[in-house]
Amino acid sequence: MTIAAPTFLSGIQPSGLPHVGNYFGAIRQHVASLSTPGEHFFFVADYHALTTTHAPEVLRSNVRELAAAYFAFGMDPERAAFFRQSDVPEVTEITWLLSTVTGMGLLERAHSFKDKTAKGIKPSVGLFTYPILMAADILAYDSTVVPVGKDQVQHVEMARDMATHFNSQYGEVFVLPEARMPEREDMAKVPGLDGQKMSKSYGNALWVFEEGKKLKKAIGRIPTDSRPPEEPKDPASIMLFDFLTLFLDEGELEEWKERVRAGGEGAPGYGHLKVRLIEAIDAAFGPARARRAGLMADPAELDQMLARGAAKARERACAVRDRAYAASGLR
Ligand code: TRP
Repeated sequence: MTIAAPTFLSGIQPSGLPHVGNYFGAIRQHVASLSTPGEHFFFVADYHALTTTHAPEVLRSNVRELAAAYFAFGMDPERAAFFRQSDVPEVTEITWLLSTVTGMGLLERAHSFKDKTAKGIKPSVGLFTYPILMAADILAYDSTVVPVGKDQVQHVEMARDMATHFNSQYGEVFVLPEARMPEREDMAKVPGLDGQKMSKSYGNALWVFEEGKKLKKAIGRIPTDSRPPEEPKDPASIMLFDFLTLFLDEGELEEWKERVRAGGEGAPGYGHLKVRLIEAIDAAFGPARARRAGLMADPAELDQMLARGAAKARERACAVRDRAYAASGLR
C-alpha cells in the first residue's frame, strides 16, 4: 500500500489586525507545515468573518492585513495555495449539500456556538451554521490534516461527521480529515497584555507589527507588582515571563529566570525585562515588518498573489463539487 502525502488545510478569520496570539497559535504552524511534503491550502476566512463583522471597509482592510502578514511571515505562494475563502464560491455550494445531511442537534452541541450565545450574542442563522461552512472548507480540498488550535478541534470532528453522513448516503465522495494541534501547547496559549487569553474581543491583543513607541506602550501594560528587584522571586509569579518564553531562546531565558530567583544586587527589575522583551520582539518580527510594509504598499501585487492561490484552490474545489453534485443527483 502506498501512503498518500498529506493535504494540509487551515483557515484563519480576519476579525481584526493579526496579533501575537494568531502568530504563535496559527500563522507559524501553517508556515512551518510547508516543509512537509504534500499539498498545502491556507485561506483567509472572509465568509466566516461576516458572522461577526458587518463593516465592509473594516473587513476589506482586515483581509489584506492578514494576507500580508502570512506572506510576510513566509507563506510561500509557490508551495501553497494561499487564498481568500470567498474566491472559491464552490464552498458555498458544498455547504448547502452538507446542510441537508446535518442534524440540528449536531450544530446545537457546538461549544463555540454555545459560548457565544451564553455571552448574550443573538445568533444569526449564519453563526449557527458556521460549522457547516467550515466543514465545506475542509472537505472541498480533500484535506487530510487540519492544523488548528484546541478551540477548533470540535469543528473538525463535526466535519468528519458530516462527511461520514454524506458518504453513507451517497458513496465515497469526501475524504475524512483529521485535526492536528500545535506540538507545544505553551506556545499556542499566548496571554494578552492583561494576562487573560489574547483576544481581539478582550482589547488585550498585541498587533504583530506594532513597533516603536506604540510597542513600548503596549508592553508597558503588562501587569507587574511592587516587589523590588533585589527580592528573590519565583519567575512563574511574573507574567512577563509568559511573553519572554515566546521570544527568547531557552539558554537566555534560563539565565534571566535564575537572576530573578537569586535576587540581590544583580537582579533585573521589571523595567529591565520589558526592555529586553521589546528588543527580542524587534529582532523576531523586524524583517517581517519590512516585508509587510512592502506588500501593503503594492496592493496590485498582493491581489495577484491571492488570485494565483485562488486559481489553484478553485481547481480542486470544482472537482470535489462536481463529484458531490453527481453523487447527490444534481447532475
Ligand atoms: N473557524 C476557524 C477559526 O475561527 C477558521 C476556519 C474557517 C477554519 N474555516 C476553516 C479553520 C477550515 C480550519 C479549517 O479559527
